[in-house]
Amino acid sequence: MINFTLLGAGRIGKMHAKIISEHEDANLVNVYDVNQEFASQVASDNKANIAKSAMDAVQDENVDAVLIASATPTHTEYLIMSSEADKPVLCEKPIDLDINKVNECRDRISGSTNLIQIGFNRRFDKSHASLKQAYSNGEIGELEKIIITSRDPSPPGLDYLNAAGGFFRDTTIHDFDLSRFILGDDPIVEISAFGDNLFDENAKIANDFDTAMFILRSKAGVLIHINNSRRAVYGYDQRVEIFGSKGMMISGNQTPTSVRKYTDTHTSSKEPIYNFFIERYEQAYKDQLNEFIASVKSKSKSKVTFEDGRNALILANAAYESQNNKKVVSIDFS
Ligand SMILES: NC(=O)c1ccc[n+]([C@@H]2O[C@H](COP(=O)([O-])OP(=O)(O)OC[C@H]3O[C@@H](n4cnc5c(N)ncnc54)[C@H](O)[C@@H]3O)[C@@H](O)[C@H]2O)c1
Repeated sequence: MINFTLLGAGRIGKMHAKIISEHEDANLVNVYDVNQEFASQVASDNKANIAKSAMDAVQDENVDAVLIASATPTHTEYLIMSSEADKPVLCEKPIDLDINKVNECRDRISGSTNLIQIGFNRRFDKSHASLKQAYSNGEIGELEKIIITSRDPSPPGLDYLNAAGGFFRDTTIHDFDLSRFILGDDPIVEISAFGDNLFDENAKIANDFDTAMFILRSKAGVLIHINNSRRAVYGYDQRVEIFGSKGMMISGNQTPTSVRKYTDTHTSSKEPIYNFFIERYEQAYKDQLNEFIASVKSKSKSKVTFEDGRNALILANAAYESQNNKKVVSIDFS
């Protein structure tokens, strides 16, 4: 049984608390959030203690592992705290929005062998992961293209936009990571990014984008097209396509059931696709935790490393450089 401390009891922290509590090999011991109301609600829902401080919660000798789901600017501090306490940690993406803070954190934890897994949950989606597996097995031959469509159902509020750190670092970062995951050993070498403001007034006020497209190229020449929007009236649009010399594979949108309806106005219609990430990626969040628990128990290496988190941020930063300077940007992961 792995005993967890949860840091951060907001939107995603609440979800992680439930997944930990329901897991047969995990137990939620402590919850800490600067917002005491959130902490006490999540603690009482999951029969956990409310910790007085993050330090108390992490250093608690009854705790085996830490899940960081607090606001992004707190992640590096909590990663260092957990590593210094030798507590394996599953940390939500992004590690931070500032590459200097990420590098400082990397220096601080460089001597540690403590397990760190970054929360790129989409790697654990069975459909997306099956594309990677098929490519690795040679089923689509030489990989030539990856096409990722990732659109949110509706734009977030201004408060979220002001705190999130920008579309590319907060949202596209998942797609940058998924591209790297599918490519495996073949690194991304250049990127061209286009952001736009087509419909969301709040995005304009926050100096952010509501629409974006990216073209990336890998060292082996694979072209990757990522397209994002903060609005899709039909739900959370999550599709991945890989195309190669022996064929194509698509991980399509999912609906809660496979029912199809035929009426006098439709030949075939399905119910709406899942509305947002908590529903669409429910299985992936659970398998992400399964992977983490298995790594803690077997003391094996992380499959989604700190470097994966850092590299995804480097791609997001290069995307901003490309957008701002209207040029193709070479990627330097060093
Ligand atoms: N992997 C995913 O699919 C996914 C989805 C959503 C959010 N996230 C990430 O999860 C993190 C949280 O996002 P959210 O949507 O739950 O945000 P949120 O604003 O709902 O929750 C953040 C929580 O952190 C708390 N907090 C702030 N400072 C703190 C501190 N110093 N110590 C402890 N708690 C503190 C806040 O009070 C709040 O309850 C972000 O890094 C975000 O990028 C990941």
